[in-house]
Amino acid sequence: MSTLKRILVQKDRTCRSVWFMRQAGRYLPEFRKIRSQNQDFIKLCLNSELSSEITLQPIKKFDLDSAIIFSDILIAPYALGQEVKFIKDEGPELDDFILEKFLDINENEFSEKLNPVYKAIEITRSNLDKKKSLIGFIGAPWTLLVYMLNIKKNKTEIDFDKLNKNIINKNQILSKLIKFLSLHISNQIDAGADVVQIFDSWSGLIPENDIKDYCYIPNAKIVEFCKEKKIPNICFPRGIKEKYKEFNEMVKPEGINLDYTIDPMWAKNNLKNVVLQGGLDPKLLLESEELMLKGATKYIKTFQDIPYIFNLGHGLLPETDPDRVKKLIEFYRNY
Ligand code: CP3
Repeated sequence: MSTLKRILVQKDRTCRSVWFMRQAGRYLPEFRKIRSQNQDFIKLCLNSELSSEITLQPIKKFDLDSAIIFSDILIAPYALGQEVKFIKDEGPELDDFILEKFLDINENEFSEKLNPVYKAIEITRSNLDKKKSLIGFIGAPWTLLVYMLNIKKNKTEIDFDKLNKNIINKNQILSKLIKFLSLHISNQIDAGADVVQIFDSWSGLIPENDIKDYCYIPNAKIVEFCKEKKIPNICFPRGIKEKYKEFNEMVKPEGINLDYTIDPMWAKNNLKNVVLQGGLDPKLLLESEELMLKGATKYIKTFQDIPYIFNLGHGLLPETDPDRVKKLIEFYRNY
């Protein structure tokens, strides 16, 4: 049995496992309270005690099987020398990418800067029920590049002129990212994480001709690293539509998170030798309870006879009512 199945799917309980992307965050009043007292988001991610407290907030509140460490994918570019700011109502903003500075950072400096994250994992692991898993994570190289080079024109378009101008030495940049993200994964595991999720949130914006170079190969190299080290891994190539099949066959992750555009029956028929996770549209938690539960039923029924981790097709939205989250978990447990 794969390690991921052992940890997340075949638990010693009647139900199979459930956790939600972005379960530690914006929709929880207890998070917003801490956030209002901590204006600098990166600093908050690097406050080990508070990060651990935020990680455990949804665990205390709901009957979830896994905790995901409170941090951000952009903590890696920060540790690689870029300043990262979060502008209210706009999102992340990174200062200019300087190749020499990026290439200059060594592994010790990188790990040292991220030490508070590893400390947060240690604290969390020691306070988390042994039966529950702790999930570490990274952003995949392409998704990090989108932020590092500031090449997103809007929600659906990439500025390829800017990308090509900045990334003359594409392989050199990608190799460094793959190497340092692998290091960030193994540091998280050494600190006590049980599983890692690799978020490729913007893979859906890569043109057909580039998808192998920017998405499949970097994800495959990171998954290969995980497999060598026996680290349970879940990929999330959001938005690549029917290419989920090719991604799964080329990257061979242990688990794959479906986005909400993927039809569950299609996934069941086309994604083989992988544990499926997620899929439910987080917007359904803003709809009537009936619609939400109808949506959930579709995933639960379709995947009832194969390994499946109940989760969403993207992160919980800030406007989600925590009572809805509770209801959804109860429904899954009692199904
Ligand atoms: O609960 C969890 O899932 C753990 C923590 C976590 C955060 N971000 C905390 C966070 C995780 C796993 C992430 C991943 C992340 N961060 C992704 C991949 C998943 C996805 O949603 O596609 C991406 C693309 C980012 C980058 C990022 N971080 C953006 C675009 C933003 C601003 C808008 C937003 O989504 O909130 C962030 C900030 C961020 N990361 C917040 C939280 C709780 C909100 C901070 C605030 O209060 O302003």
